[in-house]
Amino acid sequence: MRIVTVIGARPQIIKAAALSRAIGAHYADRIQEIIVHTGQHYDENMSQVFFDELGIPRPDYNLHVGSASHGLQTARMLEGIEEILIKERPDWLVLYGDTNSTLAGAIAAAKINVPIAHIEAGLRSFKKGMPEELNRVMSDHCSTLLFTPTKAGLENLRREGFPIGNEGPYSIDNPRVYHCGDIMYDNSLYFSTLAEERTDILTRLSLSEKPFALATIHRPSNTDRPERLNAIFESILRLSESCTVVLPLHPRTDKLLKANLEAERRDRVFSSPNIKVIPPVSFLEIIALERNARLIMTDSGGVQKEAYFFKKPCIVFRPETEWVEIVETGNVVLTDADEHRITEAWQRFGNGTPLPFPEIFGNGHAAEFMLERLLENFSPKAL
Ligand code: UD1
Ligand code: UDP
Repeated sequence: MRIVTVIGARPQIIKAAALSRAIGAHYADRIQEIIVHTGQHYDENMSQVFFDELGIPRPDYNLHVGSASHGLQTARMLEGIEEILIKERPDWLVLYGDTNSTLAGAIAAAKINVPIAHIEAGLRSFKKGMPEELNRVMSDHCSTLLFTPTKAGLENLRREGFPIGNEGPYSIDNPRVYHCGDIMYDNSLYFSTLAEERTDILTRLSLSEKPFALATIHRPSNTDRPERLNAIFESILRLSESCTVVLPLHPRTDKLLKANLEAERRDRVFSSPNIKVIPPVSFLEIIALERNARLIMTDSGGVQKEAYFFKKPCIVFRPETEWVEIVETGNVVLTDADEHRITEAWQRFGNGTPLPFPEIFGNGHAAEFMLERLLENFSPKAL
C-alpha cells in the first residue's frame, strides 16, 4: 500500500512523526509512505528542526510555497499536490488537522478520486471566521476515512450527517468515522521521557530552580487585533510580577508585535527580567518546558492539549475551543483575551488543589490503529 502524506505547518510535521515512526517500526514491509512538504512553514526552527529531532524521513517532495495570502498560498499548494498525486497514484492521501496545507491536499485528492484519510477529523469551533474552521469542514467532507480524536469530534460529524458504524466499502460518498485517540498523545508519551535527557533548555534559561509559566500566542484573532494583543500582553506583564514567564515567539506574532503592540508596552515586555521572549523551540524543548511549567497560557490547539497530557493547568486566550472535553474537567479555562478573566484564572490555579485529569485521548497507540484501518480498507484504484 502506498500513501502520500501532506504536511506543511509546524504541528503537522510533529504529528507526522507518530505515523512515520509506526510505519518504520511495524509496517515497513507493507506500507510505503511518500511525504510531501508544502513549505507552508519554512524557517529552520518551524520545520527542519522537527525532522532532525523526531526522526521524520526527509520529504520526498517540497513545494516551497512559503507565505502568501490564503488564496494564493492554497492555490500554489493545490497545483503542486495535484501533480504529485497524478504521478504517484497513491492508495491513500493522509492529511492532518486544519491548515491551508490540509485544505489544498483535500481538494486536490478529492477531485481526482484519490481517497483521503483525515487525521484529527471532526473538531469544530463553530466560528467560520477562523481560517481553520473552513479548512476542517471542507477537508472532512472530502474524506473517506475520518479519524477523530475525541467524542466531541464524533458527535460533530454525526450532526453533520456522517454515518456512524456503517458498513464498507468506504468511499467519499460512504465515509467511515473512527473514534481512535489522539496522535499527539502518542507523540507526547513517546518523547516525554527523552525531553529532559536530550535538551538543556531548563538550565540554559536558568529555570531549573524557579517556578515559571509557559506562554504561546499565534492565532490571527489575537495577533491581528491590537486591542486583544495588548490585553494579553498586559496580563502577561502583570503575571510576570509574581512568576517568570517563558514565551517562545511564533514568527507570525514576532512580526505583528511590531505593528499591533503599543510601543511602550512592547518595551516593558522586552526589558522585563521576568519575561523570557525566545525564538520558537524544538519539540523536545517545548515538552521539557511544558512538563516543568507551573502553568501554561496559550491560544494554540496543540499546546492546550499538551498541558492536559502533562497535567498542567492551562489558560486559553480564546472564547472557545475545539477540545471541549479538557475544559469540562476544569483544568483548562477559556479566558478569551480578557485581562480580568486571565488574572482570575491565574489566581484560582495558584490557590486551588490539583484537579483530576481523566484519560481522554486514547492509549498512545492511535497511529497503529489508523494504519490498520488504512490497510483493511485499501483497494488499489486507477486514477
Ligand atoms: C498556520 C495555520 C494554523 C496553525 C499554525 C501553526 C493556516 C491558515 N494557519 O498559521 O492553523 O495553527 O500554522 O503554527 O494554515 N512565517 C515565517 N516563517 C515561517 C512560517 C511563517 O516567518 O516559517 C510568518 C510569515 O510572516 C507568515 C506568517 O508567519 O505570513 C503566518 O504564517 P502562515 O503559515 O500563513 O500561518 P500561521 O499563522 O503560521
Ligand atoms: N511547539 C514547538 N515549539 C514551539 C511552540 C510549539 O515545538 O516553540 C509545538 C507544540 O508543542 C505543539 C505544536 O508545536 O505540538 C503546536 O503548534 P502550534 O501552536 O504552532 O499550532 P496549533 O497546534 O495551534 O495548530
